[in-house]
Amino acid sequence: MHRVVCPGSFDPVTNGHLDIISRTAGLYDEVIVAVLINITKHSLFSVDERIDMLTEVTKGYGNVRIERFHGLLVDFCAANGITAVVKGLRAVTDFEYEMQMAQMNYRLAKVETLFMTTNPLYSFLSSSLVKEIAKYGGDVSGLVPEIVLDRLHTRLAEE
Ligand code: PNS
Repeated sequence: MHRVVCPGSFDPVTNGHLDIISRTAGLYDEVIVAVLINITKHSLFSVDERIDMLTEVTKGYGNVRIERFHGLLVDFCAANGITAVVKGLRAVTDFEYEMQMAQMNYRLAKVETLFMTTNPLYSFLSSSLVKEIAKYGGDVSGLVPEIVLDRLHTRLAEE
């Protein structure tokens, strides 16, 4: 049984994240999408809201589970019998930081990291850019799932 984790902030989940999650679900027995609880980082959506959106957009996959975690990712892996981390790589700019984390996680607890290249349709996509563009009235449809688009518009209208 190979259980892997796709960790992240998912503030909010994008079609790029979903692409990685769905392809990972096709390769492994179980995928845990782990949402980092980071109280120091200002987020647009609460962890509960992010988990709600992730649950909704992954409900079609029988082997994807959404969880939250705080502290070290390697501790979450140990507590959940997770053998590897799967991360999406968009461009070389992601590589340096991702490699550093991958090597540190291996050094800490022998947790492996597997990189999946993103679909080129989404290689420019990030949650931060989506939030910035939506905030200034730009069109982000097609970049995030419909339910996220609705919640994004509602949240930004409230602010
Ligand atoms: O979506 P993000 O914000 O790029 O995700 C980053 C994340 C959550 C994968 C990374 O920050 C992480 O693993 N944080 C948990 C704390 C930890 O284990 N830090 C040491 C990394 S070597």
